[in-house]
Amino acid sequence: MDRAGLLGVSHHARRSLMHSHSVLFDASEFGMPIRNILAGITLLLICATVSWPAHASSPSVSTGKAISGMCAACHGSDGMATVSSYPNLAGQNYKYLLNQLKAFKNDKRHNPIMHSHAAALSQKKMRDLAAYFASLEPGNCSVSKSKSKG
Ligand code: HEC
Repeated sequence: MDRAGLLGVSHHARRSLMHSHSVLFDASEFGMPIRNILAGITLLLICATVSWPAHASSPSVSTGKAISGMCAACHGSDGMATVSSYPNLAGQNYKYLLNQLKAFKNDKRHNPIMHSHAAALSQKKMRDLAAYFASLEPGNCSVSKSKSKG
């Protein structure tokens, strides 16, 4: 953080130098990428620190999205099922989704496919996945509208 701050200061100093004098040496050519990399590392560190205490943290939609690939084959990458006999998850209630995943895992809701998937998930991953699917817009609205019209 200190180094990024220092670089920030020197960058400004460099810019004012470039304005007041003719440019002797353009340090920004390599200065900028290093600064960007440092900014990136700082951001990563902040993210890692914030998301580290897994049980204390709130569900993460972005983590859920990142790990939802294993669900997409059946439930669709947008939460809309690929096969009509599979349930859509997009826009479903967070608590409901979480409860179903827990129920599949401990076999209170019996389904061999979902049991094997849920059994592999930690509590944190279940919360992230539930948050992700709950955050999605439900699809197929036009289908149900056109159906109701007639
Ligand atoms: C091989 C296909 C398949 C995959 C992969 C899969 N599911 Fe499912 N999922 C199903 C089926 C089929 C059901 C309906 C189960 C039933 O009839 O009880 C279901 C049901 C669910 C439900 C309950 C929905 C409801 O409306 O009650 C949730 C939540 C769910 N899946 C989440 C997930 C998540 C999260 C993943 C990824 C970790 C995943 N599924 C991966 C096939 C799949």
